[in-house]
Amino acid sequence: MAYGHGKVILFGEHSVVHGRPALARAVSQGVEVRGKPSPASVTTLHIDPWKVDLDTGAAANRGHEALQRALKIARAFYPKAPFELTLRADVRLPGGAGMGSSAAIGVAVLRAMDEAYGEVRPDEDIFKRSLEWEKVFHGNPSGVDNAMATYGGMALYVRGQPLAPLAPSPPIRLLAAYSGPSPSTERMVSSVREQFEADPQGVGRLFDEIRDIVHTGKSALEAGDHATLGSCMDANHERLIKLKLSTDKLNQMVAAARAAGALGAKLTGGGGGGCMIALVKGQEEHAAVKAALAPFGPVYDV
Ligand code: PMV
Repeated sequence: MAYGHGKVILFGEHSVVHGRPALARAVSQGVEVRGKPSPASVTTLHIDPWKVDLDTGAAANRGHEALQRALKIARAFYPKAPFELTLRADVRLPGGAGMGSSAAIGVAVLRAMDEAYGEVRPDEDIFKRSLEWEKVFHGNPSGVDNAMATYGGMALYVRGQPLAPLAPSPPIRLLAAYSGPSPSTERMVSSVREQFEADPQGVGRLFDEIRDIVHTGKSALEAGDHATLGSCMDANHERLIKLKLSTDKLNQMVAAARAAGALGAKLTGGGGGGCMIALVKGQEEHAAVKAALAPFGPVYDV
């Protein structure tokens, strides 16, 4: 099946762009793409739930230029393709919400193309190709989104290094809640870069603090110490506030989740809007946190 996983970042968004580690987990939602040979002279991509239709034709698809550019990049990986494709994407993730929808679509499109053209490719190549797809959307992506979209599971990611899978026992239970649209991840990444250029020492220190939080969080996860894991999420959120990545609404949601019994909560992904995540323990806390977050927007079991 041509599938790409969505993801949430537990620790380390943004600092991962600057060479620090991030800890991420694929979510149960993702993207499935089906490809069929088409008699047309262009490959088309239909993103069903978003009512988006685009193709690799010369004319720009108004409003979806980035997706069209990415589709052309994907199609160009098959210079000897004997026919064009009709691709249909079923996206079961909120778009532009910090859950890695663009990377998941990219991975699923590339896998659907392989399937349709009868090619067998290692995941490592899907990861590399999907990074080219991601560059269209994020400019300077660290690769964490498309690594998670490709491999799934839970892992520690450092730019330029192979993904280091983690299998925590007991498993953790997370809720994600959507605060509303965010400026593009590319804009948020540029804003952090500008802050870093203006104050390399201060912002570099924040990145290092986040790196330490990632390592403490990883050890807590491996030890099954979910209380420490939760405090690490809180500590990471504080650093993301300092990097001007949070919003009043995200902060209210984080506070509401904690007040309702979450062990920890933070924004996830690019920030400036999008999603936050909360770590919940038992069934009761899960229901209470879900109810506390519901008035703010859609809540997802991830
Ligand atoms: O795509 P998003 O919004 O989940 O953000 C990806 C994570 C960042 O660290 C903000 C960017 C990157 O390339 O790692």
